[in-house]
Amino acid sequence: MPDSDNMSNSLRGSKFRPEFHFTPARHWMNDPNGLVFLDGEYHLFYQYNPNACKWGNIGWGHAVSRDLIRWTELGEALPATEHGMAFTGSAVVDSKNTSGLGGGDTSAIIAIYTHQATSGGRAVQAQHLAWSIDRGRSWQHYGDNPVLDIGSDAFRDPKVFWHEQSRRWIMAIVLADEHQVQFYSSTNLLQWEYLSSFGPGGNTEGEWECPDLFPLPIEGEPGNRSWVLKVDSTLGSVAGGSGGQYFIGDFDGTRFRAESEATPVDYGGDFYAAMTWSNLPGDRRVWLAWMSNWNYASATPTEPWRGVQSLPRSLKLVKNDSGLCLAQQPVDELKSLRKRHRRLIDIELVTGKPLPLEDSSSKTLELHVQFGVDADALLALRLLRSSGSVTTVNFDAAAGELAVDRRRTAAAPFHADFPARHRGPLRAVEGRVSIRLLLDHSCLEVFGGKGETVISDLLFADGAADGIAIECERGQAVIRQLDLWHLAV
Ligand code: FRU
Repeated sequence: MPDSDNMSNSLRGSKFRPEFHFTPARHWMNDPNGLVFLDGEYHLFYQYNPNACKWGNIGWGHAVSRDLIRWTELGEALPATEHGMAFTGSAVVDSKNTSGLGGGDTSAIIAIYTHQATSGGRAVQAQHLAWSIDRGRSWQHYGDNPVLDIGSDAFRDPKVFWHEQSRRWIMAIVLADEHQVQFYSSTNLLQWEYLSSFGPGGNTEGEWECPDLFPLPIEGEPGNRSWVLKVDSTLGSVAGGSGGQYFIGDFDGTRFRAESEATPVDYGGDFYAAMTWSNLPGDRRVWLAWMSNWNYASATPTEPWRGVQSLPRSLKLVKNDSGLCLAQQPVDELKSLRKRHRRLIDIELVTGKPLPLEDSSSKTLELHVQFGVDADALLALRLLRSSGSVTTVNFDAAAGELAVDRRRTAAAPFHADFPARHRGPLRAVEGRVSIRLLLDHSCLEVFGGKGETVISDLLFADGAADGIAIECERGQAVIRQLDLWHLAV
C-alpha cells in the first residue's frame, strides 16, 4: 500500500478524486471505524477491501492525521482472515488499563468490532477485541474472542465509550433486523452485560446499522447537555436508500429515553455510518461519515479507488423554532486550507439577472453567504456550470426549504437512483439565512443555518466548470456578506 504522501501524480490527479476529503489510494472503502485520538494523532480506520474496487474481503484500513484534514494512509490494521471479516466497530484508549492489556506506561488502544464468520452456510456476527500498544501500528487479537456473542447473524457495529457517571464502559450495538439498538456495560472491556434496548422507532425500512450515543452541550445554555442516539438504516432514508436518523434524549447509564422525534442526520444522498471520535480533549465532539449510499455505492464512476469520507464535522445542539436539534459544521482546522479570498458586501440581487462570481471555477472551494430575504424569496446558487450542465443549490423562503439538485450534473449515467433533488427544512430567521458550501471535486457538502440542515451529495461533473452564479428567482433578496475561498492542501 503506497503511503498517500508518496502517491504518484497519476493517482492523485485521477478524475473526481477529492483533495481534502480522505480517499484510499486504491480500492474499496466504506464505513469509518475505530475513530480515536491519542497523543496528538487522529486515527481513521475504515472498512476496506485491499484487493478490489468493490465490497468484499473486508478488514480495517488505517490512516492518521495531526489536523483531521491531511491524512497519511498506513495500510491494513485488521485484515480479513480465513476465519472471517472485520466489520464495523469502534476504538477507545484504555488509559486506566481496565482491561489489563496495556503495557507499562503505554495506554492500549482497544478495538471492538464485529467479526463476521460463516458457519454451516450461515453468517455469524460476534464481537471481537484487538489491541495495540504502539499507536495502532500493530495489533494483537484477544485470545478469548468473542467478547460478546448472542448467536445472531445480524448483531453488529459496536460503539464503545467510557461513561464517567457510572465509571464503566458502555456499548451501543444493533440488532439489525429488529430495528433495535442494545446497550451493554463492562468494567474491563472483556466481559459485557446486557442493559437495555431502544427501538424500533423512526425509519424501520431495511436494517439498522452503526449506532452511536454521546452527550452534546446545548448552545447558549452553559452546563446543559442532552444525549444524542444516532442509527443508520440501509433503506428508506429521507433522500432514498441508506442514511441516518437521530433522537435527542437522556441516557442514565442504563437506558436511553428519546425526547424528540426521529430526525434525519443529513438530507443528502451520501452521508452514512457516521461515527464520533473517542478520547478527544474536553467536550469536543467530532464525527465523519462514508460519503456514499448502498443504493449505488458499487457503481460510482471512480478508479482506482472507490469510497470517500466526509469532512470531519463539529457537533453541538442548538434551539430553533422546531425545538432542540443537532447542528454540524466542518471542523475549524479546515480554515488552514483557505487560500485566495474574495468578499462581497450588501449586493442587491435583481430577479432574473444572475450574479456570476468572478474567479469561482475552482473545484476546491468554500462559499459562505449570508442572505437577507423576504418571505417569498427563492434563491439559486448554480455550481459546476458547463455547456448545459449544472448543479443547483436552492433556498426557498416560502417553502422553508434547502435543496441540492444533481439531476443536471454532467456525468455519464451509472445508476438510476443517482440523479435526484434532495431537500431539507430550513427557515430564514428574522429575514436572514446563511448557506455555507464546501466543494471538493466530486464531494459537495451544504450547511444551512447553523448546520441544522446539511445536504451531502456526491457529484460527478465531467470537464471544466464555469464557476458559480447566484440568482434570486422570485421575491427579493440581498447578499449581506459573501466569502469565497479557494481551498488547497
Ligand atoms: C454499514 C455496514 C455495517 C457493517 C459494514 C460491513 O455500511 O453494512 O453494518 O459492519 O458495513 O462492511
